[in-house]
Amino acid sequence: MIIAIDGPAGSGKSTVAKLVAKRLNYRYIDTGAMYRAVAWTAQKKGMGPADETAMAQIAGSLDIEFVPSADGQLVLVDGENAMAHLKNETVGRGAATVAAQKSVREILVAKQRQIGEAGNVVMDGRDIGTVVFPQADKKFFFIADADERGRRRYEELKSKNPNLDLKIIIEEVRQRDHEDRNRKISPLVMAEDALEVDTTGLSIEEVTNHVLKNINNL
Ligand code: DC
Repeated sequence: MIIAIDGPAGSGKSTVAKLVAKRLNYRYIDTGAMYRAVAWTAQKKGMGPADETAMAQIAGSLDIEFVPSADGQLVLVDGENAMAHLKNETVGRGAATVAAQKSVREILVAKQRQIGEAGNVVMDGRDIGTVVFPQADKKFFFIADADERGRRRYEELKSKNPNLDLKIIIEEVRQRDHEDRNRKISPLVMAEDALEVDTTGLSIEEVTNHVLKNINNL
């Protein structure tokens, strides 16, 4: 069984995907972390994310593992527990750049298919239901109001940076949406056979139960 959850940043897909995977005892694969891992590795090497050939080389040689843990999962990049680094805003911006590079996408999509092939997986991203697993058993497309997605992001980041400006964060969310939806390769679009879930105003638990109910009714 392959469950695909796609949607824009802040729509709640990773939080819910993680919980759904836990409830079903499936593996959870955060494909955004893979694009972030390429950007982070480049940053560690002192390289910017714009050089597609270099980024493809990094993507090809990257060893990325998703290991279940008490709080969801660990992401090991070349053996190092990297989740805290991957969440960084600079890494997020670099990830958006590498995610628009054709050769990087080809390499990471192949890795995602390899990981998912064994089945019983919940995979979240932007193109899982359209490109990675068009034959997924169940596809969800999460959306939410941009102001609410900005507020969620603000709450998540403000403990680390109390000087954050909510208006700027909302503007960044809109900007990221624009980039994801308008890039030439694998833009963020809903698969025709996906179920749209508007998470605006819903709690994590409400959305998780809604998704599980739909999966169980298959
Ligand atoms: O979901 P996220 O913020 O961790 O994703 C990081 C970047 O990677 C973001 O710009 C969208 C992109 N991405 C993608 O293009 N395709 C995916 N399957 C997952 C993420």
